[in-house]
Amino acid sequence: MTVTDTLNVTVTPPPGGQILHQSARATIIWGDCRDPEVIAQAPDWYGLLATDPPYGIAYNSNRSQRFTEIPGDDGTVDWPGVLAKWVGPEGTFNGGLAPSRHVYVFGYTPTDLTGPLRLGGTADLVWDKVDLGSGNLTAAWSPSHERITFGVHVKRASDRQKGAGNLSARLRRGSILRYQRPGRGSARHSNEKPVPLMAELIESSTVMGDLVVDPCAGSGSTGVAAVLEGRRAFLVEINRANAELAVQRVKAAEHIADLIDAT
Ligand SMILES: C[S@@+](CC[C@H](N)C(=O)[O-])C[C@H]1O[C@@H](n2cnc3c(N)ncnc32)[C@H](O)[C@@H]1O
Repeated sequence: MTVTDTLNVTVTPPPGGQILHQSARATIIWGDCRDPEVIAQAPDWYGLLATDPPYGIAYNSNRSQRFTEIPGDDGTVDWPGVLAKWVGPEGTFNGGLAPSRHVYVFGYTPTDLTGPLRLGGTADLVWDKVDLGSGNLTAAWSPSHERITFGVHVKRASDRQKGAGNLSARLRRGSILRYQRPGRGSARHSNEKPVPLMAELIESSTVMGDLVVDPCAGSGSTGVAAVLEGRRAFLVEINRANAELAVQRVKAAEHIADLIDAT
């Protein structure tokens, strides 16, 4: 696939991607997350899929004029189908996301994701962005939220039918997550997520040392949050400039995590 980076230079990631950063805490690949050679590099039985894929709507707002168009956002990609490959193909029990572990996917509904991601139970969460969002600026109601689907991955259809993964009343807080979106002028990516929001999701669904995977990493917020929470991160991003930004941010988070560990 050919994409355009922020310098308007056409850049195509190589087959299998290119590792831009690798450490004990994080791996960051510049690559196409639909590429089977990239998917194969994700360690088996990882602990959490937390991702924010393109939403399939061409991005259109005044705010986004600072940013380039998001690759894969034109509705031509079956994103639930792509993410299905990241949790592990149907019938595969020794790869992808570990059984009974969780997924968080921004912008898609439980109806979109339950089948492809083999979810036993789901919850519909809402990120309240606090201030008014962008999007269609002529609409009467300005979007100030995004949906996040939470789900429990259950590999076997027979287990799902028996109710495995159904949610008990263990969620620790309400389904509205209120976190200020990265401010106008300071956001590094048109869809940048707040690190504290990602940290809450990660902290709720993993333990220290778990591996968090984000195949559409953007500016790397998932990776920053994972590293600051003492987890590990595996990130893929197709846009070279975004991938390099993710490397810078994750390296800064690693420095902080190293200092915390040394105290
Ligand atoms: C909604 S944004 C993610 C923003 C991110 N959560 C953040 O906080 O910065 C989706 C990202 O997916 C990337 N993307 C689109 N198609 C991709 C592909 N095939 N492989 C990997 N990344 C892709 C886009 O370049 C974009 O940066």
